[in-house]
Amino acid sequence: MENKTKHIEKVKSFFNNYSNSWEKNYDADGIMSERTVRFSKALTEKLPEGALVLDFGCGSGDLTVSLKEAGFNIQGYDLSELMIKRAQERYGSRGIVFTSADKSHPQTLPYDNKTFDAVTASSVFEYIDEPVVYFKEIFRALKPGGYFVLTVPDNRHLERRIENVKIKFYNQDIIIKLIKYLPDNIKKRLNVDFFRISKTRLKVEKWVEMLKTCGFTVDSIPKCETPLVLLTVEKI
Ligand SMILES: C[S@@+](CC[C@H](N)C(=O)[O-])C[C@H]1O[C@@H](n2cnc3c(N)ncnc32)[C@H](O)[C@@H]1O
Repeated sequence: MENKTKHIEKVKSFFNNYSNSWEKNYDADGIMSERTVRFSKALTEKLPEGALVLDFGCGSGDLTVSLKEAGFNIQGYDLSELMIKRAQERYGSRGIVFTSADKSHPQTLPYDNKTFDAVTASSVFEYIDEPVVYFKEIFRALKPGGYFVLTVPDNRHLERRIENVKIKFYNQDIIIKLIKYLPDNIKKRLNVDFFRISKTRLKVEKWVEMLKTCGFTVDSIPKCETPLVLLTVEKI
């Protein structure tokens, strides 16, 4: 079993490598453009214009800027310093503050207690091997009455069930040893690094149970409609 620090370093390095290309996913025909609509809708249903929102795991800032455009006072935070650099280059001039994780304490958020009206996390938690640590931090940084809106892979969806088989396969000790001998271009084609780091694949009920353990109130579990389920939970 790899240790926690090693996993965090792998995730950081993986996303550092994507810092200049992640934004392509948000092109009009990109696979992620619908995310901005889902998150804006979830927040505007709950919060007034001008509410202070943290986009946790903001990447190169695409969702972050869309929430600014929807009227929120938004900040971005990410583990990958190169994603943050790219987000700053693109959107820093629009008054959005982007912050990268503290290298020595990446599991502690650099925000005071009760700062934000909402925190968003779009496709971040599948890369985190200790979600509860961050759920507690997010709970701490939210104001009472604040919302946490996150998407996680929905294991009920067929696409995810197939993906989970690959994740299990690529994370077996023997396969990890053997794959070392494959040429890099083949590993890339097989998406090995992605399947190694995107491994926190839990049942929706388990995510909900963990959020509740950390103090969040969860009204209901949404039906499975897409490969990503969006959960809106509250710090009462
Ligand atoms: C799949 S990308 C999603 C980026 C953005 N939220 C989006 O939807 O376009 C996941 C992001 O989460 C960040 N991330 C992963 N683990 C993190 C952690 N422990 N703390 C903060 N950010 C993290 C990665 O660096 C990466 O930018």
